[in-house]
Amino acid sequence: MRIAMIGGGYVGLVSATCFAEFGLHVNVVETNPDRLNALKQGEIPIYEPGLDILVKNNIKTNRLQFFDRIEEAIPECEAIFIAVGTPPRNGDGHADMTYVHQAALQIATHLKQYAVIVTKSTVPVGTSRRIAQIIRQKNPDLEFDVASNPEFLREGDAIKDCMNPDRVIIGIEKDKADHGKKAQDIMTRLYQPLFQRETPILFTNLESAELAKYASNCFLAMKLSYVNELADLCDQVGGNIEDITKAMGLDPRIGKYFLQPGPGFGGSCFPKDTLALIRIAQEAGTPTRMIETAAQANDARKANMSGRIIQLCGGNINNKTIAILGLTFKPNTDDMRESASLPIIHRLVEGGAIIKAFDPISNEKAQPLLPKEVQYYNNIEEAATNADALVILTEWNEFRSLSPINLKKWMKKALVIDLRNIYDPKIMANEGIEYYSIGRPQKK
Ligand code: UDX
Repeated sequence: MRIAMIGGGYVGLVSATCFAEFGLHVNVVETNPDRLNALKQGEIPIYEPGLDILVKNNIKTNRLQFFDRIEEAIPECEAIFIAVGTPPRNGDGHADMTYVHQAALQIATHLKQYAVIVTKSTVPVGTSRRIAQIIRQKNPDLEFDVASNPEFLREGDAIKDCMNPDRVIIGIEKDKADHGKKAQDIMTRLYQPLFQRETPILFTNLESAELAKYASNCFLAMKLSYVNELADLCDQVGGNIEDITKAMGLDPRIGKYFLQPGPGFGGSCFPKDTLALIRIAQEAGTPTRMIETAAQANDARKANMSGRIIQLCGGNINNKTIAILGLTFKPNTDDMRESASLPIIHRLVEGGAIIKAFDPISNEKAQPLLPKEVQYYNNIEEAATNADALVILTEWNEFRSLSPINLKKWMKKALVIDLRNIYDPKIMANEGIEYYSIGRPQKK
């Protein structure tokens, strides 16, 4: 079976590679020439554990091929996935659909055989029908179906999530004469390897599939804003957020995952998707006040986190040296988008602090996004040396085994502000480190 993937970005490349790994022939279309050339050589423009080997292996077997033009990639394809970017549109928070619509138009211009046109990008409800309309207008005689197949993978765990997903959601045109059966058959064949593994695959109508992705991401975002506010409450009244989330998580209706407090959620999905669903719902006349509040609380949290750091540093950070460990929005990715590190470090520099930063992967990628005064180091020791405080912003594994004895040796003042709760407050206190985390009582 041959399919095409329009867009060799994060979602497109990972999905294409996983389909190829499952034995399909996948033609990826990438219009950025630098990216295309790199991909053809098996060079991966993103940091995603395990992806480079899989891409290389599947290029070798010819199951994964890269093209710059849609017309070269779509002949003989039974399904054509649209996985182009849907960044926030200037100013209004809606997803920018320019690239999706362009892809639809080009498919309509060049497609000669029947195919299912599948949206993988996270798109507003109504997009699949809009794509069908664009294609029908341009090429009224073409026989095709549209489907919506949102991707739920997480950066850093993308391969695992893609090859062994919790669920596959596929929206089809149930209101068509054949109830979308032809599309359903093709999508079933496409996902056959997963059916064999008993992955739940849910066929819904188009609108439900389109909304399911937003609904899931926004629910998780609300969960995080909720737990972050609870952690702040613990700091004021003396509870321990770890015990509380453990207690909550033992109730299967709540679940134990995604209850880790932090400096505020970031990344390419939650901030963008919360905003997009807020706008969709407002326009539909059914505002989603809970999501609005969760998004506002998160923006405010990221903006205010520096205030907390300044206060723990004694109220004045002018000329103080602050070591920052972790710059990406989460570990195992090089992605800096909407990372809490950005507003935090900007404010600390404005306050006169000298920032010594270390990120295991993204020192270079962070530089254009952070103030030019920030100094970058290649390991924890270099960053921590002579620092008045050390702040953990991302929970990279290599930070977890930090030795308090070394810290005391390296730092001017042994003050650790851990915004990811990766250390044991008791151990830190016993070793004579002044240690603050989120929502956990400070041990003296
Ligand atoms: C998310 C969804 O999880 C995924 O299903 C969807 O396809 C894309 O968006 P991703 O953005 O890659 O994935 O990262 P995720 O692991 O969900 O983390 C998002 C943010 O929440 C990060 O900033 C992370 O640090 C934060 N987070 C996550 C917490 O603060 N606490 C948690 O317990 C979990």
